[in-house]
Amino acid sequence: MDTQIIRVDEGHENTGLLRQAGEVIKAGGLVAFPTETVYGLGGDAMNPDSSRKIYAAKGRPSDNPLIVHICCMEDLAPIVKEIPEAARRLAEAFWPGPLTMIFEKSDLIPYETTGGLDTVAVRMPNHPVAMELIHAAGGYIAAPSANLSGRPSPTLAKYVAEDMVGRIEMIIDGGDVEIGLESTIIDMTEDIPLILRPGYITKEMLEEVLQSVGEDKALMSDSSGQAPKAPGMKYRHYAPKGELTIVDGDLRRVVEYINEQTMFMQEKGHKVGIIGTDATIAGYSGDLCKSVGERDEEATIAKRLYRTLREFDDEGVTVIFSESFDTAGMGQAIMNRLLKAAGHHVIRV
Ligand code: TXA
Ligand code: MG
Repeated sequence: MDTQIIRVDEGHENTGLLRQAGEVIKAGGLVAFPTETVYGLGGDAMNPDSSRKIYAAKGRPSDNPLIVHICCMEDLAPIVKEIPEAARRLAEAFWPGPLTMIFEKSDLIPYETTGGLDTVAVRMPNHPVAMELIHAAGGYIAAPSANLSGRPSPTLAKYVAEDMVGRIEMIIDGGDVEIGLESTIIDMTEDIPLILRPGYITKEMLEEVLQSVGEDKALMSDSSGQAPKAPGMKYRHYAPKGELTIVDGDLRRVVEYINEQTMFMQEKGHKVGIIGTDATIAGYSGDLCKSVGERDEEATIAKRLYRTLREFDDEGVTVIFSESFDTAGMGQAIMNRLLKAAGHHVIRV
């Protein structure tokens, strides 16, 4: 299949292009598009064949449900059984934005889109291109992140192209994304809404709107003995090609330990990549040392994390060491993704 790549520019009139892309989706095709979190791989959420194609293009297990993206509040009611009051309040506070809410689904949404579940995940992205495309495609776009299953989510169109050229009809290049990590997912079907995946919208932010919010116990640990409630969280996601180890502890010791291990790995013929921060990066001796920013600037770290993992892949890095990060605020989402990428391999020094 030929994959058409179209570039949309901010401040330009892109309506014609996006209308064309909307037609591709309406006709059952797949279009990758930018959102504020990561690039999405979109198909018509109401068309079971489109959802099947999405799973095939990603190489993703079909029991892993897709998020339905909408562009206005009126479009929510038809696809869910009810809108709980708490969900209305969250929508008012955070939509459009990086929050996905889970509802009981109505009959309009096919089981192919929800991986066989009676619930549906819904998000209204805060990105002008995504909004216009959803509108042009008829209002409902099912979209997982636009990566091959098991690879880091794409934050740039070139990474979408790396994974998806030849597999989908179109890629819309809207430049760099703003956030760089996937949306927060919250299950609104529980008495106490439950966070299933941490993201930019933190527990503290949600608690400013709702009285109480729970957290899926399986989020940060490998050994809680519980399967995570979001089916996708059980897979070894976000995996770079190199073997990733997180090193945690006093920063000086961390740098020392990583340098020792780097030498050892290099002697064995490995190409070593290191994820550090602005204050430490000059002290490392890896083949490729990349800073994800200042330690206390979570937003920058979040934005650079997947990109850094992909850059290591591109450079043929076979072993990666990363510093560990604080888990306060958005740090929880960062560590959740990093731990998954590392298969929970953490060394404490
Ligand atoms: O930021 C995002 O959310 C991006 C952009 C493109 O919007 N999308 C994204 O989709 O990250 P995906 O498919 O990569 O991750 C969706 C996650 C999976 O872990 C899936 O299991 C979970 O959402 N999920 C979807 N529907 C669900 C449901 N009904 N119940 C529980 N978990 C659900
Ligand atoms: Mg994904």
